[in-house]
Amino acid sequence: MDVLSTQNSGTDKRIQILDATIKRYQYQQDALIEVLHKAQEFGYLENDILLYIAHSLKLPISQVYGVATFYHLFSLTPRGKHTCLVCTGTACYFQGTQTILANIEKETHIRAGETTADGKFSLQTARCLGTCGIAPVVVLDNTVLGSGSPELICERVTTLLTNSDCRPQAPVAAFLEQSLIN
Ligand code: FES
Repeated sequence: MDVLSTQNSGTDKRIQILDATIKRYQYQQDALIEVLHKAQEFGYLENDILLYIAHSLKLPISQVYGVATFYHLFSLTPRGKHTCLVCTGTACYFQGTQTILANIEKETHIRAGETTADGKFSLQTARCLGTCGIAPVVVLDNTVLGSGSPELICERVTTLLTNSDCRPQAPVAAFLEQSLIN
């Protein structure tokens, strides 16, 4: 295997951290998710990192990719400064998150799973976040929003973004304001 081969592995800080994690779990293949979690701390799961993990744990690369793409917490591409995670599970669906998602996609010109060109805003979806009792659920960065109408959730999203160091892009703000009026 030539990915992150010996000339890089000794100097790449990421590899040193991964090696320590893999060693802590005694090279057990069952530790794949824990190792991916550690790798995610580097920002996102780059191809060379996934290949290195597969090699180190002696797992098929298809299995490592499968796990990395199954869980919404893992990302194979760089995320924006702010991440908006919209739950599209059944309970949230019936409480209107599809409407929230569709409008945000329309106004930001990105689809779920993508990041705006300025790198400030990523839009993600998840099938269920395990908090169905407060549907519809939207997670903005580390803040969980729920227990409200889609319009109220939109208001809270825009408030959080406006109060952060990164204001929402104009189209997002316009949509959110319009949601409150309608
Ligand atoms: S369906 Fe959205 S939290 Fe469960």
